[in-house]
Amino acid sequence: MKETFKNDVNEGLSKTSKTLPSKYFYDAIGDKIFIKIMHMPEYYLTRAEHEIFKTKTAAIINALNISKDSKFDIIELGAGDGTKTKLLLEDLVSKEYQFKYLPIDISKDALNHLKCSLSKEISSLEVETKQGDYFHVLDDLKSHKNKKIILFLGSNIGNMSDDEAKQFLEKLGNSIHKDDVILLGADLIKSEDIVLPAYSDDAGVTKSFNLNLLTRINSELEANFNINKFEHLATYTEDEGIARSFLVSKEKQEVEIKSLQKSFLFEANEKIHTEDSRKYNNQILENLLENTSLQISNKLTDSNNYFADYILTKK
Ligand SMILES: C[S@@+](CC[C@H](N)C(=O)[O-])C[C@H]1O[C@@H](n2cnc3c(N)ncnc32)[C@H](O)[C@@H]1O
Repeated sequence: MKETFKNDVNEGLSKTSKTLPSKYFYDAIGDKIFIKIMHMPEYYLTRAEHEIFKTKTAAIINALNISKDSKFDIIELGAGDGTKTKLLLEDLVSKEYQFKYLPIDISKDALNHLKCSLSKEISSLEVETKQGDYFHVLDDLKSHKNKKIILFLGSNIGNMSDDEAKQFLEKLGNSIHKDDVILLGADLIKSEDIVLPAYSDDAGVTKSFNLNLLTRINSELEANFNINKFEHLATYTEDEGIARSFLVSKEKQEVEIKSLQKSFLFEANEKIHTEDSRKYNNQILENLLENTSLQISNKLTDSNNYFADYILTKK
């Protein structure tokens, strides 16, 4: 893991337009800051998807095409703290469905917390956690024998470029069987005044989330980023439908990363691109699914029409 982190940081900061992959936001500190983000008044995404899970549980269960007579597995990609998923899990357990829950996350801390909270809150639930990058676990899914329900919530897919999302969905389609169902959470395209504050809040929580990436590089790769010399920037236009986050160097400076035995030069106002959060509509998702074996078979939205949970099945 550390080697991959080191190589990814080196590759990203060596580019003409510097980048750092967003998956590295989630260390123990990043996980805690993200939980704060989910509770921010500006972060409508979690509230909207929570509303869908709370008020449309019966419709979700209906769309999963499951029966109480046969076992199935719920596999969640990038489970985080599982707050929304727990609403579904609780309902399924109370209705006596026979299933196992398998959350997958890159963050070991997130998985440990989730497992611990589930053992208290839904003690009869069988849970098997797996740490790893969800791009790499898709291959293992194919050999899975039970029917699979795959959850990919929170608009995590929006952190991928459209090309990456196409490849991911193609691979996901190839790793499921005919009866399997995917529940894909997608933030919908809407105006700048709603979207932008979710990525640049007044209290500076998103700023500390973004800057924590530099703190993580400092502690894990022995670097000397001065986080006071970088600022947080978020951009979004409704036309493009992509919120982008950057770290901007406030001045010309050099940063040493000892474990890479290398220094990186930053010009004044030079940006490091740290995250994209794409917003969707049916057309955009259909384009991404075009060359895959998946189709949209249902769509559940919140009362504001801010967020959608799409049900995807094999064509
Ligand atoms: C934005 S949070 C969303 C959490 C949850 N899905 C939700 O809707 O509340 C993203 C989660 O995905 C995990 N994650 C991000 N990139 C990942 C990757 N490439 N592979 C596995 N997990 C990843 C993070 O650790 C974090 O827990």
